[in-house]
Amino acid sequence: MSTDRKELEGKVAIITGGSKGLGRAMALGFAERGADVVIASRKLTPCEAVAREARRRGVRALAVSCHVGDWAQCETLVERTASEFGRIDVLVNNAGIAPVAPSMKEISEVLFDKTIGVNLKGPLRLSALAAEHMRPGSTIVNISSLASVRPTPFTTVYACAKAGLNVLTAVMAQEFAPKGIRANGILCGTFSTDSFNAAAPNDEAKAIAARAAVLNRVADADEIVGTAVYLVSEASGYVTGQMIRVDGGIF
Ligand SMILES: NC(=O)c1ccc[n+]([C@@H]2O[C@H](COP(=O)([O-])OP(=O)(O)OC[C@H]3O[C@@H](n4cnc5c(N)ncnc54)[C@H](OP(=O)(O)O)[C@@H]3O)[C@@H](O)[C@H]2O)c1
Repeated sequence: MSTDRKELEGKVAIITGGSKGLGRAMALGFAERGADVVIASRKLTPCEAVAREARRRGVRALAVSCHVGDWAQCETLVERTASEFGRIDVLVNNAGIAPVAPSMKEISEVLFDKTIGVNLKGPLRLSALAAEHMRPGSTIVNISSLASVRPTPFTTVYACAKAGLNVLTAVMAQEFAPKGIRANGILCGTFSTDSFNAAAPNDEAKAIAARAAVLNRVADADEIVGTAVYLVSEASGYVTGQMIRVDGGIF
């Protein structure tokens, strides 16, 4: 048997929030392993740049502008993927926002709705739509946060939304199992991305984040790729409904 075949060859993967940070890392990591990738976020130009990088790895890539909190745009994303590639094997619900409010009293309705929209409402609808096109062996990966199980004030709505995403992962695993679709999630610790740098703008804040993990550092964005590849490949064929912590060891 030839060993030249790449691990994810023949698969079509949608990655929301694929234009930068963890989403970009996963999109390029999947492309490196032979998957065709659909890179989606609100701003098309950065998605197109990542799509070009993916094509340089020898795969097909499509950039789609999509605000995941808008269900009509979720529908367009799924329909465009299906018409371009004829199949959907992987959905990574990665797009996320973590706005800060100083207290519960100061959480505005707009902030609440937007945070729930991107982190929870979008993944629910997108997964439901994508599952209609998925065949047995397909997978969904929800990118959650350690904040969902170790919540602190200030990112209250984000933590609630991600906790909802964890629950949704368990629901998806059950509802989609008869179709042969698995659903899992990743509980991220701290990764060096734009959103982390905005939340921890100085060296002291970065050092505190690093010290929280027994590995005593913040992760590079690329360090999510191995776990994501595991969850979308046959190696995890008997794993569903699980949230895997990738956090450098936080106790
Ligand atoms: N970095 C960390 O330490 C960390 C920790 C825990 C969990 N996470 C989770 O990991 C995921 C990725 O985080 P990151 O650090 O890579 O974030 P990031 O660098 O800020 O990137 C966020 C991505 O999401 C997209 N996005 C934002 N709002 C969107 C919307 N409404 N619709 C579609 N796309 C949208 C952004 O592109 P556009 O602006 O073009 O839309 C961008 O591609 C998030 O779910 C986050 O909660 C990250």
